[in-house]
Amino acid sequence: MTIDELTQIKATALAELAAAKTPDEVEALRIKYLGAKNGLLPALMKQLKDVPPADKPQMGKELNALRTAVTDALQAAKDASSSAGEAVEPFDFSLPGNWTKAGAMHPVSSVIEETTRIFAQLGFTVADGPDMETEFNNFDALNTAKHHPSRDERDTFWLADGNLLRTQTSPVQIRAMLATKPPVRIINPGRCYRRDTTDATHAANFHQIEGLYVDVKPVSLADLKSTLAHFAREMMGPNVKVRFRPHFFPFTEPSVEVDFSCHLCHGKGCRVCKQSGWIEIAGAGIVDTRVFKHIGYPEDCYGFAFGMGVERIAMIKHGITDLRHLYTNDLRYLKQFV
Ligand code: PHE
Repeated sequence: MTIDELTQIKATALAELAAAKTPDEVEALRIKYLGAKNGLLPALMKQLKDVPPADKPQMGKELNALRTAVTDALQAAKDASSSAGEAVEPFDFSLPGNWTKAGAMHPVSSVIEETTRIFAQLGFTVADGPDMETEFNNFDALNTAKHHPSRDERDTFWLADGNLLRTQTSPVQIRAMLATKPPVRIINPGRCYRRDTTDATHAANFHQIEGLYVDVKPVSLADLKSTLAHFAREMMGPNVKVRFRPHFFPFTEPSVEVDFSCHLCHGKGCRVCKQSGWIEIAGAGIVDTRVFKHIGYPEDCYGFAFGMGVERIAMIKHGITDLRHLYTNDLRYLKQFV
């Protein structure tokens, strides 16, 4: 073994490795040069002990350099051959994608979202309130007499600490007014609770959307009606009309019940409107000045308020005849409204 021989081996090894194209060729060269059994370099290493002592240091150094050079060249050849093997296939952008169903909104949620969007166009912002309320916010401040039947244990879920599960979203009127000065323009979608036995049109847990507009200038029933008429047309269709019927609520004076003309039969009479041509949607009215008094609000304020049933709107919009379908969450049923 001479230095010249080692130089020669190195040149050959590097040339062969540079020419190797496939992973198999590279592997064959690895075995040829570094293979533990019959590899050339391990064999040369073994011969080192026969080299005359004077030449040993020089020869050992050369051998190590040769092994490093071959190892590096092998690694480089390996990287090049494996990436050459993975020829990148051109991506075909015209192929149909992999579809995953995104899911859809529940009819109750989509009515809430749609309503919020429509009132946002009129400058109403969304206010919030808790499901657990004080008696003051749910009844007293809303001018509800102490003996009013809605306070009865058979109607309201009272809690041990004297609070209650709100029976309506109207307490959010109180919260919104206490939080800001007029003008106030809010809507509040939320859950309500009443001790109702569940049937096709009642549930102990349901949703309402409350609306409140309070200003320091006069606000009239005409403002209320035009606001609700705009909502009706946006929600149900451009030909839907609104009518008011006199009613009573402790916190509005005058009070009305609000009907929309039936969007399915256009007033002729059908199954959804029970042949009347009209569908009851909301309670509403002009805010009673006594409500302003109860919460220490300026008395020269004016306002209107309304409260609509979300499930009701979802039911008539989609022709759902049993409210319980909205809560059993059978996907086969709910998928129809996507
Ligand atoms: N809170 C009333 C109800 O649940 C509806 C309503 C809201 C009436 C606002 C007037 C004003 O029946």
